[in-house]
Amino acid sequence: MSKVCIIGLGYVGLPLARLCKQREQDVSGFDIDSEKVGKLSEVNASADSAVIKDAEIVIVCVPTPVNEDKTPNLSALKAAVGDVSKNLQKGQIVIIESTIFPGTTEEIVKPILEESGLKAGTDFCLAHCPERIDPGNKEWTIENIPRVLGGFTKECAGKAGEFYKSILDADVTVLSSLKSAEAVKVVENTFRDINIAYVNELAKSFDRTGIDLIEVIKGASTKPFAFMPHYPGCGVGGHCIPVDPYYLIDKAEQSGFKHTFLKMARDINRSMPGYTVELLKELNGELKDAKVGILGISYKGNVDDVRGSPGLKMLGILKEQGANVEIFDPHVLEKSSVKSVEELLEKSDYVILATAHDEFLNLGADDLKKAEIKAVVDGRNCLDKDAIVKAGLKYKGIGR
Ligand SMILES: NC(=O)c1ccc[n+]([C@@H]2O[C@H](COP(=O)([O-])OP(=O)(O)OC[C@H]3O[C@@H](n4cnc5c(N)ncnc54)[C@H](O)[C@@H]3O)[C@@H](O)[C@H]2O)c1
Repeated sequence: MSKVCIIGLGYVGLPLARLCKQREQDVSGFDIDSEKVGKLSEVNASADSAVIKDAEIVIVCVPTPVNEDKTPNLSALKAAVGDVSKNLQKGQIVIIESTIFPGTTEEIVKPILEESGLKAGTDFCLAHCPERIDPGNKEWTIENIPRVLGGFTKECAGKAGEFYKSILDADVTVLSSLKSAEAVKVVENTFRDINIAYVNELAKSFDRTGIDLIEVIKGASTKPFAFMPHYPGCGVGGHCIPVDPYYLIDKAEQSGFKHTFLKMARDINRSMPGYTVELLKELNGELKDAKVGILGISYKGNVDDVRGSPGLKMLGILKEQGANVEIFDPHVLEKSSVKSVEELLEKSDYVILATAHDEFLNLGADDLKKAEIKAVVDGRNCLDKDAIVKAGLKYKGIGR
């Protein structure tokens, strides 16, 4: 049993704290959000950073977003590491799980920790083990997703690796450096962003040439090697995929290299909420005073996270164009303007499906027709196109 303190009890830190508890570690948590701390009776949470002192292993899981100008915003990370530094004890193992650009642990985190007077690699261990959690994924969970990590020294990496092996049912791969481990996470998420941008661009092109991209992807997926299906959609949201490529872009730029390809991918994906609204305009004409219902404002199906939400972006665009918009998300009721799908349909003439929640997948042509919906833009290509068209409604998917 180790004494573990998790810093930042959000989408990443809280499941980790729960897992540690499940694996009979002695867990505590520190979060600056005292209201959140007050509600967390299941883990030993505190808003007082002094809890860090008692831990053997300190794991930092605070947000690493981007600023308005898309440069990395490390303010939460620096503040959290500052608190660790003030409470740092000889022999502690400090692990950063937050997503960061290559070089952050050694160039930014280590100097802050060493303000304590203790030296990394001799007095305390320092490692980076990027979190790979995929919210809503029931097959791949925090317990069984393989992990990679890097340490400031071999001993740091070894000790951190031993800890993860003790709590996970998954392989832990130790890389040769902190930088490599840091790069793994941003490379993985940028890979996804680029591939989604590719199919989003194809969707725009195939929408002009009248080719059903979804059918094409189905066909291409029969190739047993060298093709991996990605799907177009009304936007890429969340805290990771739309953010992490900028960490790579910015770090490279600081080092004298311009990532034109990565930037282009980001621009394509950022254009998708606007493109989706344009599709509705093509079906309907001008949107001034149009009654539009948006189904889904979380960034992906069956989760409640609205960070970077394409649905909310479309809400803004539609409002700018003078439309009257209702929104419904069964996972985000507090931000919904109506209480049910039925109420949304009743108050709308046009529907944009922005999130593929299970609750929306059964939405049939009959429901839409009964509510006298005139046109549907299926931003996740998850509705029955043929049935909707057969029922006499206008339908447009993204690339089909
Ligand atoms: N959400 C995901 O799916 C996901 C997946 C993989 C990696 N990540 C990465 O993990 C990190 C955390 O993301 P998240 O989604 O859990 O964020 P989050 O916003 O859900 O949670 C972060 C928590 O940290 C707390 N916090 C902020 N500043 C703090 C400070 N100075 N000291 C202590 N606590 C502080 C916040 O109050 C919040 O409770 C980010 O770097 C993110 O990129 C997230």
